[in-house]
Amino acid sequence: MKLERNVSLKAYNTFGIDVEASHFVRIRDLDELREALAAPGLPEPFILSGGSNILLTGPLNRLVLFLDTRGKEVLQRDADQAVLRVMAGENWHELVLWSLEQGFGGIENLALIPGKTGTAPIQNIGAYGVEIKEVLAGLEAVELETGQLRRFTTKECALGYRDSIFKGPEKGRYLIWSVDLRLTCRNHDIRTAYGAISTQLEAEGIDEPTPEQVARAVIRIRQSKLPDPAELGNSGSFFKNPVIPAGQYARLTTRYPELPGYAHGEQGVKVPAGWLIDQLGFKGFRRGDAGVHEKQALVLVNHGTASGQDLLDLAREIQHAVADSYGIHIEPEVNIL
Ligand code: EPU
Repeated sequence: MKLERNVSLKAYNTFGIDVEASHFVRIRDLDELREALAAPGLPEPFILSGGSNILLTGPLNRLVLFLDTRGKEVLQRDADQAVLRVMAGENWHELVLWSLEQGFGGIENLALIPGKTGTAPIQNIGAYGVEIKEVLAGLEAVELETGQLRRFTTKECALGYRDSIFKGPEKGRYLIWSVDLRLTCRNHDIRTAYGAISTQLEAEGIDEPTPEQVARAVIRIRQSKLPDPAELGNSGSFFKNPVIPAGQYARLTTRYPELPGYAHGEQGVKVPAGWLIDQLGFKGFRRGDAGVHEKQALVLVNHGTASGQDLLDLAREIQHAVADSYGIHIEPEVNIL
């Protein structure tokens, strides 16, 4: 294990925030992880993966465990299905492309989501009508306290909308080590109901798309709306889409007839926070280098030298404006540190 001190995290978070970690270790195998966890006199561990869902608001006095593991394996395969085991440090989008090359379907709608595979189940990544929940076949996680590897079934992970036990009751207790995915080899479950996908495929004259064609459509849509972190610092959607009671939704639509809403559970309606924020005129808004993306109001961006605090101040201002205008509390999706 190589322990480094006072390491800039600028290159390790997609917002591009320049703060230092007091302690930093690169984790490539279980031995390195266990050694780091057992080393005496070090601060509390912090797991750093793709850095695509965090906002760093100040120096991090923690033992940063930078997850840099690799490997994927086909555990089982028949004519219909394949089960893969993927190490947590594998880049998610590269995994999607690799799966498509192997002829596997199931994660094509999740193309171009930033981050690594191990963190995907923590917030149950989802896009264009698919969540990882639908293909997850369990995972292995290391208990930080003991260094023990433990298996979780998909059910035990309790995945919900941008949620899992790893964000709730078990937060901070485990490091996800590998993820099993059950993918299809034929009779793929193609999902094109999400408006933007069908429009994109129709424009290309495709009626019965393959998983690759769906992935390509998703990539085009994402590239047209969402900023590339390599060019403009961001963390994807900054807020979750709020779920409000059906009665409140009905009252709001008398004032805002255009307000979109999607049934969520028995009594709830999920409302796009991007729409709410957009209507308040925030799209493209900028204060210093902290801003709101010009094409997607749910995405906060760092135009260069914004600090985490600048972005947090902007996020709070947006939350207050949304609460004042609509009586809706929007929660950050990004982890604030
Ligand atoms: N909208 C606006 N203005 C905006 C943004 C959105 O009016 O500035 C409206 C759109 O016109 C549409 C609705 O809001 O009617 C939904 O917009 P969109 O399809 O862009 O999706 P979203 O709800 O803003 C969610 C996810 C994204 C995911 C997309 C596609 C969350 C928090 N975000 O965004 O996930 O890619 O759906 O499935 O659930 C992420 O989590 O980082 C992320 C990018």
